[in-house]
Amino acid sequence: MKDKIQVKRIASALGAEIRGLELRSLSPETVQEIKSLLLEHHVLFFPDQGLNNEEHIAFGEHFGELEGHPHLENSKDEQRLFVLKASRGGVADEWHSDLSFLPRPALISILQILKCPEVGGDTLWANLARAFDELSPPLRDLCEGLSALHNAEPHGHPETMFVHPMVRVHPDTGQKVLFVNEHFTRRIVELSVEESELLLGYLARWIARPRFTVRYRWSPGTVAMWDNRCTQHFVSNDFEGERVIQRVTVMGDQIEEGNPRWAPYKSPVGPSDTDRHDQMLREFFKSTRI
Ligand SMILES: [Fe+2]
Repeated sequence: MKDKIQVKRIASALGAEIRGLELRSLSPETVQEIKSLLLEHHVLFFPDQGLNNEEHIAFGEHFGELEGHPHLENSKDEQRLFVLKASRGGVADEWHSDLSFLPRPALISILQILKCPEVGGDTLWANLARAFDELSPPLRDLCEGLSALHNAEPHGHPETMFVHPMVRVHPDTGQKVLFVNEHFTRRIVELSVEESELLLGYLARWIARPRFTVRYRWSPGTVAMWDNRCTQHFVSNDFEGERVIQRVTVMGDQIEEGNPRWAPYKSPVGPSDTDRHDQMLREFFKSTRI
């Protein structure tokens, strides 16, 4: 079975197209092979699969327990599989890793595209290990000592929030990974709001550099799976017509304890109007005086 798998890398940073497999019927050995390929390439594309709902769920279950989406109504009904229909607008056109605002952010997302427009609607992914590695040593060192607050404000739920280290160690590869994103990361905990916005803005632009990314053109029935621990993705909002996807999500693992080198930010001046900028941090650290 292993010999039949055809692997075609499609960018230097990450991403491979896999042919010669029927995802609806996999041997345990082939599942292991797919896990290895995912660790190596971070995002995999399987064209011409056309899985039904049960097959899609069964494929996802090879990789762990599945979870619904916390803020989508149709996910609550079907629990483990959800469908997103988007014409122009309403698409994830900011860089993100899925559900990074949860204590255990999504591990693997597995998406099948059911309908795609003739042009546009590509998805891009970025390699966060490479983005971290290519920062200058002083900036890598600074980021490793910081943590950041993520929340679900883009879903209308700013109260759903969690603080994660800004640099994670991927548990399977040992690679250090930059773990902040444009969509869900609101604030670096140890910096003032101005400093936080400056650094998060810089890192968002850095991560999106084309050299760290792959861009994929969809065709109906293609399945993609990606590792949210070391990638971010972005949907190009340049399409007209229907774009329908369905997704299952493999539940995340516990992120290792952060070890920030500094205390949460505390304004050096007395109470003032600028305190409102730190309200989010105060809410998260209710028991901590900052
Ligand atoms: Fe996403």
